[in-house]
Amino acid sequence: MKTTAALLAGAAAVVAATAGGNCSKPYVTSEALQGLVRLEDLLAGSQTLQDIADAHGGNRAFGGGGHNATVDWLYDTLAATGYFDVVKQPFVELFSAGSATLSSSSSSSGEKVYTPKPLTYTPGTDGQTLSRPVVAVAELGCEAADFPAGVAGNIALVLRGDCNFAQKASLAKAAGAAAAIVYNNVPGGVAGTLGAASDAHAPIVGISQEEGESILSALASASPETPLVLDLFIESIVENRTNYNVIAETKQGDKDNVLVLGGHSDSVYEGPGINDDGSGSVGIWAVARALTGFRVKNAVRFAFWGAEEFGKLGSYYYVKQLNRTGETEIAKIRAYLNFDMIASPNYVYGIYDGDGSAFNFSGPAGSDQIERDFEDFFKANGLPSVPSVFSGRSDYAGFIENGIPSGGLFTGAEVPKTAEEARLFGGEAGAPLDANYHQAGDTVANLDHGAFLTNTKAIANSVAKYAMSWAGLPDVHLPQRRWSADRHRALHRSNARGLAGHGHAHAHSGPCGEVGGFDVREKVRERGGREGERKRVGGTIGKRVYIRFK
Ligand SMILES: *[C@@H]1O[C@H](CO)[C@@H](O)[C@H](O)[C@H]1NC(C)=O
Ligand SMILES: *[C@@H]1O[C@H](CO)[C@@H](O)[C@H](O)[C@H]1NC(C)=O
Ligand SMILES: *[C@@H]1O[C@H](CO)[C@@H](O)[C@H](O)[C@H]1NC(C)=O
Ligand SMILES: *[C@@H]1O[C@H](CO)[C@@H](O)[C@H](O)[C@H]1NC(C)=O
Ligand SMILES: *[C@@H]1O[C@H](CO)[C@@H](O)[C@H](O)[C@H]1NC(C)=O
Ligand SMILES: [Zn+2]
Repeated sequence: MKTTAALLAGAAAVVAATAGGNCSKPYVTSEALQGLVRLEDLLAGSQTLQDIADAHGGNRAFGGGGHNATVDWLYDTLAATGYFDVVKQPFVELFSAGSATLSSSSSSSGEKVYTPKPLTYTPGTDGQTLSRPVVAVAELGCEAADFPAGVAGNIALVLRGDCNFAQKASLAKAAGAAAAIVYNNVPGGVAGTLGAASDAHAPIVGISQEEGESILSALASASPETPLVLDLFIESIVENRTNYNVIAETKQGDKDNVLVLGGHSDSVYEGPGINDDGSGSVGIWAVARALTGFRVKNAVRFAFWGAEEFGKLGSYYYVKQLNRTGETEIAKIRAYLNFDMIASPNYVYGIYDGDGSAFNFSGPAGSDQIERDFEDFFKANGLPSVPSVFSGRSDYAGFIENGIPSGGLFTGAEVPKTAEEARLFGGEAGAPLDANYHQAGDTVANLDHGAFLTNTKAIANSVAKYAMSWAGLPDVHLPQRRWSADRHRALHRSNARGLAGHGHAHAHSGPCGEVGGFDVREKVRERGGREGERKRVGGTIGKRVYIRFK
């Protein structure tokens, strides 16, 4: 089997090089490719994305004008090289975003302003501010009997826990509540999803435990004559949106043994996403353009995933489409490299822990080699690096769930820098690795230029290596890949809860550091929902949206 595959692969390489290649170009080398990676190109690309966001309401979120323009820019600039076959791959997914305000003006202690987060897929309040008494619900609001008659026409205050948010929202509506507020059962805010849009749900927001308890204590001194009145406004967008992956593959090289690398082209709704993941997109875009000066032995496919911020939708869609051909197309992918945030302002040089040495989630066979190759790059440049947890929390998930060796780089999100990391990398211990993570402040000013340049050279180094040779990476062995795929799907399920404490999870692929995200994921699974596709929704939407309204 192995010998035949290798022979066939060799034959294909020869055909590809003569058919699509340019024999006057030299074969790529790491040094030459790295030499073409220039900070000014990275910054110019980042500025282009910033300009696009600025021209489209401050974001590049999926299905919106800012993302469309990002997709067009990637497509146009890569197609113009003539070196790649470039496609835009469309797919449709449900978009949801919203904003909310909540305050009490009638409380004896004066006006108090809360920080509500609309639950994903909540109905809005029809452009009105509801001014209604708030009524506490008994128990956890998981049974109709928990809702007192007084909630009819008013705002129900419900404690988080036991049943999912959709059930609380439905029971509130059934009891006649005009809206519902769910407050956390542990410190911190609640971000969650109703799992789907439905007319059966009352409009619903989440608030922190502290805010919930402060409303409860104010309620203690309220009476039917002097109720505690809250002002609640929810704006909600729920709509199907067409979105695109951009895939650019070298015309030359062995198409049966392909290196795939990717980053996501969308931002959150809350900001322009220049580090997350403008940095990864621009990094691989720059390497793609640099590669056009060379010949390659193996085909290299650059992927720009859409709708990552909604649960890795673009990469999952892509893998699913490939998967529909059976194992043929998947088996052509020899390795996958992922770059999601590579220029964080208070960065670490994080490398996905492919060998499982640090976090006990090893990738498919070969992921250890990919990690080692990145480690060697940093060592050779006299730079430190740290392992980054590798458990399926960015666009590489669909690849490791198909047994494809994977790896990548990650400079960190909202997690604070440890003292040890500050010793290794400089920067500020105790401060987030990216203080502007998923916020309006993730602009061109939010990039560490040195980290951006170094990481992009690291990408170039790995691309040059695998474009020429698979030495050190295993041959494609389908039974082994299937075994590995099963294991990753199982791990993925069993670890859905346990990761919050790990330092370098790409947090926006989880709960955004908020209690609630994992719970959301469990609930989606309970619903029998498309777990892989929806799990991040609750963590990212409605978190910080600044929409002005009157
Ligand atoms: C081949 O490469 C040379 C040098 O980079 C370039 O001038 C020429 O246009 C290329 N030809 C094709 C067919 O790509
Ligand atoms: C973005 O592109 C999609 C698909 O082509 C289109 O339906 C949508 O209207 C575009 N949005 C904007 C704001 O241009
Ligand atoms: C989105 O599209 C799906 C599938 O076509 C459809 O069932 C659903 O009603 C649509 N949702 C909205 C909000 O338009
Ligand atoms: C790909 O297909 C296999 C069966 O052929 C299935 O077990 C696996 O879950 C699929 N993976 C994805 C990501 O769709
Ligand atoms: C590592 O993971 C394996 C399988 O998931 C488990 O059996 C083992 O106990 C774990 N080891 C540690 C040190 O956590
Ligand atoms: Zn990201």
